[in-house]
Amino acid sequence: MKKNCLEIVRQKCESCQGCALAKNRNNVVFSDGDASTARIVLIGEAPGEMEDETGRPFVGRAGQLLTEFLSDAGISRDKDLYIINTVKCRPPENRVPTDEEKAACRKFLDAQIDIIKPDAIILCGATALKSFVNLDKKQTISKVRGQWMTITVDGVDYKAMTIFHPSYLLRNHSMAEGSPRRLMQQDLKNIKDTILPDVNHVDDVTSDNNVAFGSLVSA
Ligand code: URA
Repeated sequence: MKKNCLEIVRQKCESCQGCALAKNRNNVVFSDGDASTARIVLIGEAPGEMEDETGRPFVGRAGQLLTEFLSDAGISRDKDLYIINTVKCRPPENRVPTDEEKAACRKFLDAQIDIIKPDAIILCGATALKSFVNLDKKQTISKVRGQWMTITVDGVDYKAMTIFHPSYLLRNHSMAEGSPRRLMQQDLKNIKDTILPDVNHVDDVTSDNNVAFGSLVSA
């Protein structure tokens, strides 16, 4: 059912000419992840070059780093997450999408959330955050990240947390206490423990015929 509804939205999105980004796109980057198992929606900014080439969100350098952080926290990007972007077509030179571009894409974003009705939403970076929260001048992403809040989409309240965008982490390598990478680890662990306390992906690896391996890793 969810997949059928999302397919209708995808088709509309793929033929969208609602803003100038449509002209130069190679692919509309609609989503990644399994809509039938995902309990969390992760929202990024917009596709980059690799995403535009492949039609999948978060597959370039930033995406690979995000995938590593997720997996270290015990979150599977294929099973636990439905990954989408605020804007579905690549802005030139990877610039931040304009208000007009965000407005043109908003109906697709809202429909995706409305169909999935996730247990939680991860706002990945400032563009996603600002699409749902009016920040006052003192509220930077560094201050807001890591806090659970409620956002409302189409009249439905969702538990949400902002995390750093992985492109920021590509420029900040430190793993020292309080560094952006350490805070990212903490935030994703908080999300895993709060929303997916029952999920253990080690079980997935060992669930088939690997009895000996299974008893070794769970010992
Ligand atoms: N950055 C994003 O915000 N989204 C992507 O899909 C890739 C990079």
